[in-house]
Order: sequence, then structure tokens, then C-alpha cells
Amino acid sequence: MEEYIYIVQASLEPSKCKIGKTNDLDRRLKEYNNMTGKSKENIYQYLFACEVKNMSAVENDIKNFFITLRENKSKEIYFYNDPLFENYVKFIKAHPLFVKEILVKPENKKQIVKIVKKTTPSLEERGLTHRDVMRKAQKVDNDEFYTRLEDVEKELVMYDKAIWEDKVVFCNCDDAVGNDERDTSAFVLYFLNNFKELGLKKLICTHYGGGIDLFNQGTKGIIYIYIFTRDGFEELKESPKNYTGSFDDPLSLKILNHEADIVCTNPPFSKAIEYWKIIIESGKKFLIISNVSNAINTAFIHYFKNNKVWAGYNRVDWFLNYKKELVRASGSWYTNLPITNRAKYNHLKIVPLKDIPEKHKQYDDSKILLVDNCYIPKGYKKTFAVSARSILNGLLENGYKIVQDKRYEPYINGKAGFARVLVQKIMNN
Ligand SMILES: C[S@@+](CC[C@H](N)C(=O)[O-])C[C@H]1O[C@@H](n2cnc3c(N)ncnc32)[C@H](O)[C@@H]1O
Repeated sequence: MEEYIYIVQASLEPSKCKIGKTNDLDRRLKEYNNMTGKSKENIYQYLFACEVKNMSAVENDIKNFFITLRENKSKEIYFYNDPLFENYVKFIKAHPLFVKEILVKPENKKQIVKIVKKTTPSLEERGLTHRDVMRKAQKVDNDEFYTRLEDVEKELVMYDKAIWEDKVVFCNCDDAVGNDERDTSAFVLYFLNNFKELGLKKLICTHYGGGIDLFNQGTKGIIYIYIFTRDGFEELKESPKNYTGSFDDPLSLKILNHEADIVCTNPPFSKAIEYWKIIIESGKKFLIISNVSNAINTAFIHYFKNNKVWAGYNRVDWFLNYKKELVRASGSWYTNLPITNRAKYNHLKIVPLKDIPEKHKQYDDSKILLVDNCYIPKGYKKTFAVSARSILNGLLENGYKIVQDKRYEPYINGKAGFARVLVQKIMNN
């Protein structure tokens, strides 16, 4: 008798699939469709099917291997999107008991964006300049940059696992597992993949319904809650009335203040000021991505100065845009979690002033010493100015303090130079 492993999906539940076994593919599909026969809208179809030698053994190995992606143990329901599907198929095809592929769904067609022509008021009529529009477009673009799973993994493995034990993680700018990777957050995937290993208590993430709705995910805010029970993952999805999904929505703030232990996300670049204020004032632990230059930006300097935030371990220079293309943006991880053995201390070159090469030191019109390339003048007692890089490399953890909340804008021979931040050696007496 032939034995098959298949992946089947119901049209009304595109973010889930079932991985099962059968001796008769046609009959099994009919059974599924008869089950929902009352509502003709929910049609089941196979996404993948293959012949195997011992279907129970293969099914068992799938269960064990993808335990953290299994939502419902008894019904063998797994989270689904394109990359996850590829993983399931890859695993099955590499299994020693795999015999041959019977069918695999065609690749997703590219989304076609239809441009509807309509009469739009001119820029002048709207009181805007071309520059305003470009600036706004840039903001929207950056807000829709997605973090790659490898960047999330690279940073999160650096922290002591014990910090996650029995904790509620809140991703407050993240869609849950969606139809494909554009609407699936790498943060959520990371935490689902590692839920058991980290010993998490709960994962909560929110979908923002405002702004541009690029992926037709809907304009309502959604709260997704994941808990791991004896039966596998349980996903609860709620869309409370009037909930926007914004990180500053009263309900999001309630979750932040009363339920969350650690916040972890890449918030919209254009709302970083509001976001940092809310997260830092909440007093919760956080690990987030933000612009690399925040340490020399007046809106953020006071957090660094008052030791409310410091850099994480890594920079993030590459993101994915909504077309899944790699795009460059200068990001860095920021946190208030303990950092041990920051490798980047080695990038700081703390040497006597006389040993700093001339091209990396100069005095501005106010006689303030400006140093570049992470050179730090050893034994220098006066205030001097450094770039954000020195702060990201841990200068403030090496006996230096920020002395002014405002960013420092030097002038050299009357010409404005690069902005920096003013620092000074902490004196022990
Ligand atoms: C830079 S993207 C990062 C997305 C995701 N966290 C990741 O790392 O891939 C920022 C996300 O926040 C969403 N967003 C924009 N404004 C928001 C708000 N006020 N509250 C919550 N999310 C928001 C954007 O739609 C976008 O999905």
C-alpha cells in the first residue's frame, strides 16, 4: 500500500497548514472538504504531497523537529508562510524515507499593484514643497523596513538565556505569522522558534492598523498572544473595538505597563522619539533597533547620559523592504539589558593625545577638542567631542560621561562641522 505525507491548507486560514499522512490522497482531501462542506467558502487544497516509505515515522520526525511551529498538537496544525513552507518541504525531501514528490504548489505570483488615476490637488494647493514630499516618502520607506531573521538571531544569542525565563515578551510593532515573510515579523518567528529553549511564559505582538496598508492586512489593530501548552502552541487573536494597534494606543500601553517584562522590536524610524519616551518611562527591559546616530541626537542624548540606555552588541545595516529587496539603513541595537564583554571596546583607541594622528584630532573655534575614528585622548581632563560611534563602542562604560544633553555642533573657521556629543573623563576625586 502506498504511503503519503501531505501539507494541506484551508482557504480561510492562510497562516496555518496541516501536515498529515494518508494512504489515499484523493480520499483524504475529500474528507477535509466534506468536513467543511456546510460552508463552501472554506476550501482545502494540498500545497505539497509526496510518497514516503514509512509515513508514521516521517510524520513523527516532523512533529519533533518542528515542535515550536506546531500550533495544535492533536490536529498537527503548523504555522504557515512561504519561508516556513520551504523549510517543511526541505525537511521532508531530505528525510531518508522520502520516495518521490507528487505535487508542490506553484510559487507565489508577484503582487501586482494597480495604480488608479484620480485627480489629486497639486502640491501647491496642499501647501507642500517637493522636498516635503520626498522627506515624507523617506519616512514611510524607513518605517516599512523589515528586520532580517539573521540579524535578530545574531543579537539575541548574545544575551544570557536566563533573562527570558518565565518572561512575557512584547513585540509592539510586529505582525504575527502571516501569509508570507513580508507580513511575518522576524522577531515573532525568532521567539516562536526559541520559545521553549528560552523558557518564555508568553509572547504578545501587535499589528498596527494605521498608516499605509501596504499588504492589505487590514486597518484594524490586532493583538496576537502565544502561549505554549501541553497541546502545542495556542494562538489567540483579538481585534478589540477601536483598537489601533499603535504602540501608544491605551490598550498597548496597558499591556506594556501591566503585562510585559521585555519589549523587543524594530519600531518605526519616524516615530522613534515618541517610542523611546514610552518604553524608557515604562521602566521595562527592552531590546530594540533604532538609528545609529541617536547618541548624538538631542532628543535621545539624555537617555545615554543618564544611563537609561546603551548600545546592544551589533549594528544593523541591512533590512528588507516590502518587495523583499535588501535595503541599507544605519541601525543599531539599543537596550537596558546587561551587556557582558562588549567586543567593540576594542574599537576604542584610548591613547595619549600626542599619539592621536593629526587627521583625527582638531580644535574647533571654541577651542574644544574634536576626535574622530574612535580615538580617545588618554588622561585628557577637559571636555572633548566624539561621534556616535565611540558611544556605541562603549565609551560611557569605560570611565567617561556625557556632559551636555544637547548635541554639539562644532564650527571650524566659521564653517559647521559634523555634529558630535560632549564627553569628559570621570574623575575619581
Ligand atoms: C521598521 S518596521 C519594522 C517591522 C518589524 N518590527 C520588523 O522588525 O521587521 C516598523 C513597523 O511598525 C509599524 N508601525 C508604524 N507606526 C506604528 C505605531 N504607531 N505603532 C505600532 N507599529 C507601528 C509599521 O507599519 C512597520 O510595520
